[in-house]
Amino acid sequence: MKLSLLILTYWLIARAAKCQGVSWYNVAVVEFELETNLSVSADERLAATISRFIKTLNGLTEPLDLVIFPESALASDDPDAATELPSLYDFLLCNSNDVGYAEFLKNLSCLAIDRQTVIVVNILEKSGDSFYNTDIALAANGTVIARYRKWNLFGEIAKSKPSTLDLPVLELKNTTFGFMTCFDILFGVPGFNLTRERSVKNIIFPLNWISELPYLTALQTQQMWASEHDVTLLAAGSNSPGRGAGGTGIYLGKKGALETIIAAGGGTRTIYRNVPIISGTGTNVILVNHTETDEIDSLAVEMDDFFTLVDAAIAEHASVVLDTTNLSGCITVCHGRNDDVTCCDFDVSALQDQIVASRNGDRYTYHLVAYNGVRSFSGVFFGGVEICAVVACLNESVASCGRRFPDYSNIVWPITFEKINVSGNFSQSERRVQYPTSLLSSIRPIETRHTSWHREEVNGTTVLRTHTLEKAQNRLLTFGIYGRDFTRDRDPMRNESANGSISGQGGPNPDLSALLVLFIIAFIYV
Ligand SMILES: *[C@@H]1O[C@H](CO)[C@@H](O)[C@H](O)[C@H]1NC(C)=O
Ligand SMILES: *[C@@H]1O[C@H](CO)[C@@H](O)[C@H](O)[C@H]1NC(C)=O
Ligand SMILES: *[C@@H]1O[C@H](CO)[C@@H](O)[C@H](O)[C@H]1NC(C)=O
Ligand SMILES: *[C@@H]1O[C@H](CO)[C@@H](O)[C@H](O)[C@H]1NC(C)=O
Ligand SMILES: *[C@@H]1O[C@H](CO)[C@@H](O)[C@H](O)[C@H]1NC(C)=O
Ligand SMILES: *[C@@H]1O[C@H](CO)[C@@H](O)[C@H](O)[C@H]1NC(C)=O
Ligand SMILES: *[C@@H]1O[C@H](CO)[C@@H](O)[C@H](O)[C@H]1NC(C)=O
Ligand SMILES: *[C@@H]1O[C@H](CO)[C@@H](O)[C@H](O)[C@H]1NC(C)=O
Ligand SMILES: *[C@@H]1O[C@H](CO)[C@@H](O)[C@H](O)[C@H]1NC(C)=O
Ligand SMILES: *[C@@H]1O[C@H](CO)[C@@H](O)[C@H](O)[C@H]1NC(C)=O
Ligand SMILES: *[C@@H]1O[C@H](CO)[C@@H](O)[C@H](O)[C@H]1NC(C)=O
Ligand SMILES: *[C@@H]1O[C@H](CO)[C@@H](O)[C@H](O)[C@H]1NC(C)=O
Repeated sequence: MKLSLLILTYWLIARAAKCQGVSWYNVAVVEFELETNLSVSADERLAATISRFIKTLNGLTEPLDLVIFPESALASDDPDAATELPSLYDFLLCNSNDVGYAEFLKNLSCLAIDRQTVIVVNILEKSGDSFYNTDIALAANGTVIARYRKWNLFGEIAKSKPSTLDLPVLELKNTTFGFMTCFDILFGVPGFNLTRERSVKNIIFPLNWISELPYLTALQTQQMWASEHDVTLLAAGSNSPGRGAGGTGIYLGKKGALETIIAAGGGTRTIYRNVPIISGTGTNVILVNHTETDEIDSLAVEMDDFFTLVDAAIAEHASVVLDTTNLSGCITVCHGRNDDVTCCDFDVSALQDQIVASRNGDRYTYHLVAYNGVRSFSGVFFGGVEICAVVACLNESVASCGRRFPDYSNIVWPITFEKINVSGNFSQSERRVQYPTSLLSSIRPIETRHTSWHREEVNGTTVLRTHTLEKAQNRLLTFGIYGRDFTRDRDPMRNESANGSISGQGGPNPDLSALLVLFIIAFIYV
């Protein structure tokens, strides 16, 4: 009786799914706390990490098609942890006697067989004299079925940029999965190759991302990327709050986030979800919903001690301070050089609560900003950016934007934005892209269903992008447009400019004795 009911239920669910043109895959994305105890040897850290991977997987009893661990978790700061990789598809690593492959790879291969799942990990790959920051997928038969060498290295001078781009595409459950790693999210390669050229539907994204205010905190960056490209993003972040690392989520393209976490106090946490493969309309999924002010505040308080970087070019932004005596109206702010100017139109409608305004406490000053220029990423990379945004600042100085008051509980929020309409004009080009960026005090983005994001071709050379806030917000840190211009990118670590040429003695085959120090530096910044 019970069994037949169960079968009937399954049949009904399966049938409903078929009618809606929806099916699912089961995925776990792991926010993994890094082993940072440097008084323990690299070998011991690696062994501890592997046993925690195994424990994490054993803790998941549900059916699992795919599990993704983050970048850098397997002690990739240490050349001793480097491993060679066998050829794809045919070499069974589990219980292999081949000493060329690290023991942890063999352990992971056995684990994939035991769990009958695909396991994605990020490793330090050794190939000849070169080291690569590499994502691999281990299949349920214990072989490596995908290898992606990170294309856009963040400094990481001891590692090589691959000479050719890997673009592996996995097919699982009748859908397709491509790969990117961490800093890659700010570039066109490999993202455009996967989403635009190959129409890949899901992106596997291990990262070790250091959040940066006001535009590039972890969950904010993940959501804005998934919205613009409209594919499913499976982001697994390394966690280390003191360094500002953390942020994991599953995003269903422009529908928004299915679930996100950023373990503010540290720790390893797993998001396990059935992810719909969307074909057509009528999909009903429950998305992230942290709309209540109390909930935003309780998440925000936890983030007080979470380290965040600040945009290196913030002081150079053109800015107009939002006038609290006249909170509604249209203002245009432009920034750039003669032939390359971004003009931002702000249509803002806000209210100030006089009772709240009269209370003691810190309060943010809002600036309407525009920026078109090249910024530094911790000195290891220089990238072209084009920005229009409303941002929260400590005071009237634009240099104070993107900084937080230290004690969240002492902040008062007199201003409520009823509506914000930010639009900017950008050169139409394959080598530029714009994203809808937003951030609340919880260091989470505004849920996409409360915003809209448009693109309009003005003429053959200019595109107008518009990001609109459609639900009143009282805990706003950022709302705007974050654009990238790859034509102005420069990688001084590899003497590479946007045209892709590499000159000088830079890059590959570094002296092994210098590796450890360099990897530790890379570990701090990646
Ligand atoms: C780091 O590891 C050492 C050696 O195992 C141990 O004594 C120490 O308590 C650890 N420190 C932390 C912060 O866990
Ligand atoms: C990895 O595999 C080796 C050899 O099979 C085994 O000795 C070791 O205990 C395994 N490590 C973990 C963490 O399970
Ligand atoms: C292992 O599985 C993959 C697909 O998941 C397949 O392409 C490969 O041929 C298989 N390898 C072996 C040795 O069975
Ligand atoms: C797989 O997806 C394609 C296109 O999305 C569809 O035409 C096909 O029927 C699907 N196959 C199965 C077995 O669901
Ligand atoms: C990836 O895209 C870039 C830029 O559009 C292009 O130059 C490159 O050839 C593509 N690479 C592959 C492997 O498709
Ligand atoms: C979000 O949560 C609020 C209450 O917390 C509820 O009123 C609202 O219906 C929810 N919205 C969605 C789309 O789930
Ligand atoms: C308020 O500001 C708008 C421009 O943002 C301006 O047009 C309007 O005259 C101002 N109103 C007052 C009362 O100052
Ligand atoms: C703004 O705040 C910063 C940081 O607290 C401070 O250094 C600066 O002097 C302030 N500027 C003004 C104009 O108040
Ligand atoms: C936002 O601004 C753009 C450009 O100024 C305009 O076309 C659009 O209608 C506005 N949208 C809303 C909702 O106000
Ligand atoms: C944006 O608009 C301004 C003012 O109309 C113009 O000077 C600038 O060239 C435009 N920029 C682009 C990229 O279209
Ligand atoms: C396209 O529109 C932009 C912004 O309005 C303008 O600056 C530019 O001159 C126009 N270009 C052409 C070719 O009309
Ligand atoms: C890059 O080029 C500059 C100037 O040409 C040179 O001084 C520097 O040593 C080069 N760096 C590398 C890593 O090749």
